[in-house]
Amino acid sequence: MADTTHGALAPTYHPLPITIARAHGTHVWDTDGNEFLDLLSGYSALNFGHLHQGLVAAAMTQLRQVTLTSRAFDHDRLEEFAQRLVEVVGPLTAGGEDSLVVPMSTGAEAVETAIKAVRKWGHDVRGVPEDQATVIVADGNFHGRTTTLVGLSDKPAARDGFGPFAPGFRKVPFGDLDAVADAVDDTTVAVLMEPVQGEAGVLVPPDEFWPGLRELTTTRDIALVADEIQSGLGRTGTTLACELWDVRPDLVCLGNALGGGIVPVSAVVGKPEILGILTPGTHGSTFGGNPLACAVAVAALDLLSTGQYQARAAESGKVLEERLDALVAQGLLAEARTVGLWAGIDLAPELGTGRELCEALLERGVLAKETRDETIHLSPPLSIVQPELEMALDILEESLLALRDDDPETAPAEVADDHAAAPDGKDERSELSPTAS
Ligand SMILES: Cc1ncc(COP(=O)(O)O)c(C=O)c1O
Repeated sequence: MADTTHGALAPTYHPLPITIARAHGTHVWDTDGNEFLDLLSGYSALNFGHLHQGLVAAAMTQLRQVTLTSRAFDHDRLEEFAQRLVEVVGPLTAGGEDSLVVPMSTGAEAVETAIKAVRKWGHDVRGVPEDQATVIVADGNFHGRTTTLVGLSDKPAARDGFGPFAPGFRKVPFGDLDAVADAVDDTTVAVLMEPVQGEAGVLVPPDEFWPGLRELTTTRDIALVADEIQSGLGRTGTTLACELWDVRPDLVCLGNALGGGIVPVSAVVGKPEILGILTPGTHGSTFGGNPLACAVAVAALDLLSTGQYQARAAESGKVLEERLDALVAQGLLAEARTVGLWAGIDLAPELGTGRELCEALLERGVLAKETRDETIHLSPPLSIVQPELEMALDILEESLLALRDDDPETAPAEVADDHAAAPDGKDERSELSPTAS
């Protein structure tokens, strides 16, 4: 295994022992040329797979034109980006075709942007007194790592020692509509939640939760903000996860897949009454909405606008769900939660930890990552073809059996060549393959 001790890096991560040197589609190769199937896809930043040809081409074309202007000057891709985002995502929000867009780079910046917008809207429009606005968030949330956002976390590692944290938030159990209703008062300007909690282990709330949130927030004139940085842009078999319940949030935070796995791109999209509050000087970002980011994001939105990726996620998700449920029935998993092509699986406790399972998978050519002690997160590229998915799930079963039998000698399955994409992208296997034009 590769040595992943990095002398000069602050130890903020505990990566699996692999050093990746190149990637293509659903496959990555380490520095020794060993091949792996990527079942994490950069927490959905690689929904279209590694190095999608169309996205790379869009980036390369833009690299020869202009890459950064800052927002001091407009550029010729900025309005196109905003328009495309409004076309694809606007109608899925309460802003409809009149939605506005605030472009940023990282997910945390998008969430911070949404918080600023709802606070100022609450103050300027709703009349909430200065410094009194509150936002309701959920237990188990993950919204990012700024000092405000880790203050919302309940993971000790994320928050302990990093205070003092920003005031103005109330936490309620995720999925508990009565608790949200009880937390609302005249100072409440927004409810901010992930539709499906990804880092908490792909937790899907009860079906009535999001429709109930929509009704409650509409009645009380509160902004409903969906953090779809991980759940959005195809992962759940729909463009937004909120569509699963036919809910249109007032604002949606997007990130990860918007940058096609090439550049960081994020945005807040939604109601002009709220985002229009952010006038010159109130908010901004040097890199947000830069020409390179816009060019890649427009190409990513073009891919999504066909609906093919969403359909593929829904279709492959059925295979994923069936196979994981079978592992639960076999007693190898305590629980599996699947939505679209996204799953959180809890190991049967006697088998070991999530980390041990990820190491067993890595030895057999599959990449995944634990999110909580006993939970791992599966989010393959949406372009994964069924034989690759089946093979990855065979390897998952084999790894679980190996942990159960505590037999480190269990023969590792190779990633078969007939499913391997050549790094030059010549062997296409799917119409959604990153090599397809
Ligand atoms: C739901 C959610 N919100 C916010 C973030 C933060 O994004 P970033 O790491 O780009 O700041 C993430 C990261 O994956 C996320 O999954």
